[in-house]
Amino acid sequence: LRVALLAGGTSSEREVSLKGAKAVHSALLELGHRVEFFDPASDLLNLVQRAKDFDVAFLVMHGPGGEDGTLQGFLDMLGLPYQGAGVLGSALAMHKGLSKILYERVGLPVPKGKLFKKGISLALMRDYAHSLGFPLIVKPATQGSSVGLSLVENEYALDEAVEKAFEVDKEILLEEHLKGRELTVGILGEEPLPVVEIQHKAKFFNYETKYTPGLAEEICPAPISKELTLTAQEYALRAHRALYLRHYSRTDMILVEDKIFVLETNTIPGMTETSLLPLSAKVAGLSFKDLIEKLLRLALE
Ligand code: DAL
Ligand code: MG
Repeated sequence: LRVALLAGGTSSEREVSLKGAKAVHSALLELGHRVEFFDPASDLLNLVQRAKDFDVAFLVMHGPGGEDGTLQGFLDMLGLPYQGAGVLGSALAMHKGLSKILYERVGLPVPKGKLFKKGISLALMRDYAHSLGFPLIVKPATQGSSVGLSLVENEYALDEAVEKAFEVDKEILLEEHLKGRELTVGILGEEPLPVVEIQHKAKFFNYETKYTPGLAEEICPAPISKELTLTAQEYALRAHRALYLRHYSRTDMILVEDKIFVLETNTIPGMTETSLLPLSAKVAGLSFKDLIEKLLRLALE
């Protein structure tokens, strides 16, 4: 196949994207495909002119401008198929406040939380923060990899966290902090993959812990009961459907005692060779190359 590999972009997850694209690039070549690399930050016009030279696009884009539906709409207009969620699903999943509403509609347990738009009075936010209690989480509505996210230990740290989150988004979420075990479950072609547990020593699974080798340990299959495993997998599938996703996704969850809460769904999960979805695909018997090939086939269906 002639594959346009799209990675980079302008979001705060640019580096993660480029790293993943490197692994995907090697896999595509090993699979015998012809690959050309495009960075939407600089090469969009080039892609418009060259669209007819490709059978399919493969996206390793994270965050706004790549994972939020904008690029998906652009590719739809070009008539170039791509793996993963379309415009609607991408936009819904990128917005943590709207996804939460859709999760709740299908009965998925979620942490308590509320969305605030820029310009809202700090007093209202402080009131809400007090009703949640501390520690709590402040996060931008549309970012990935925990960028702009803070764990707020007490009321004195709230304003700074709010300011930091508003630096990267016009809407932010205040959420109760659930302390528990971090689980994540991939969906591939409407089937759940084995559950992954992420063990780490940080106060929450922050950017540094996500991308510094050795700071977190990923265990797959997760050492949890059969019953919890099935629940986590069923939740991931329900989240995938509730957000109008297709082909694949990865839903992050927190296990508190024996109850699972859904946090968010990634429509273009990280694709470095040590990332979570490739890891669980491997446990399910699919090598990284098999996974890439499967995603190409799903894109062309
Ligand atoms: N947003 C990152 C790439 C992930 O969830 O894998
Ligand atoms: Mg994410």
